[in-house]
Amino acid sequence: MIDQYGRTIDYMRISITDRCNLRCRYCMPEDIEKIPMKDILTYEEIGEISRAAVSLGIRKFKITGGEPLVRKDAAALVEKIHKIPGTEQVTLTTNGILLKKCLPELLAAGLDGVNISLDTLDAAQFETITGKNDLDQVLEGIEAAFQAGIPVKINTVLQRDVNADAWRQLIQFAKDRPIDVRFIEMMPIGFGRKFEPVYGEEIREKIRSLYPDLEEDPRVHGNGPAVYVRVPGWKGSIGFISAIHGKFCRDCNRIRLTSTGKLKPCLCYGENIDLLPLLRNPADKTARAAALKNAIEDAIRKKPEAHCFDLLSKVTEQKKMVEIGG
Ligand code: 5AD
Ligand code: SF4
Repeated sequence: MIDQYGRTIDYMRISITDRCNLRCRYCMPEDIEKIPMKDILTYEEIGEISRAAVSLGIRKFKITGGEPLVRKDAAALVEKIHKIPGTEQVTLTTNGILLKKCLPELLAAGLDGVNISLDTLDAAQFETITGKNDLDQVLEGIEAAFQAGIPVKINTVLQRDVNADAWRQLIQFAKDRPIDVRFIEMMPIGFGRKFEPVYGEEIREKIRSLYPDLEEDPRVHGNGPAVYVRVPGWKGSIGFISAIHGKFCRDCNRIRLTSTGKLKPCLCYGENIDLLPLLRNPADKTARAAALKNAIEDAIRKKPEAHCFDLLSKVTEQKKMVEIGG
């Protein structure tokens, strides 16, 4: 479907849980309250929403969390969405901890690619950021996904006082393998508000000073807003998702579904369309499908022209990132 600013909306991010097996300090620090399971959409319900979304032209889905792989049988959902006629791609964003273990089922379910969040290659730093000493498991997950032959991307958030120099080691993933490494600016959502971002432009200049022949890479690498560069001869690219300075809203192609069934037109604003009452209405399946389609259409129609992360007072989203899925 095309929205009121002429953008084709063909991508939906689906958060399937607010739980996580890490405790990243900017996302889900210790002791935050969990959403009761009864309020979380079932896979059946997510399936109904996905079918309605496909009927409106959504073609690509990303499963997110929290950490999606802590929810039981996430592969079953990947398969369910993959089987909807019209779906072109189902991918996953994970912290990688359970990836090696879950990969066989995910591949059998048709998973088309994986984004792995990793902010550092230093074990002590990893523990400071995530609260857990599990770096090796993430590295095994990355290796397993690469060996399986599906597209792998690494997503990194730098924090000025912790891992501002981690880019130096992390970009090496892109050297010998076609793995893209992307730097995401810390967004002022949830606990992220408390942290100062390291801007993409700054990282790019530092990389350029090490590799002066760094060049723009105009190839499209995914569904997202990343801008890419590459070091000549390297197999993967280096991307920047610069939410704060590089306004990419003109090319926005997405809507987001939270784990409790709220459809979000834009990450920045609290406004949402609640699908739960429609889903849990005893009306027959056909009537529900029509109601869901209307509601999704409404969300796409309500997409604002741009986010407002550069003006904190206008950011109305109060939810935490674990509830939204990034
Ligand atoms: N800003 C930017 N990225 C964030 N993530 C979590 N919170 C934020 C934030 N405030 C990222 C994680 C992970 C993905 C799921 O979202 O680092 O890569
Ligand atoms: Fe978990 Fe990802 Fe949030 Fe870290 S950033 S706490 S891994 S959901």
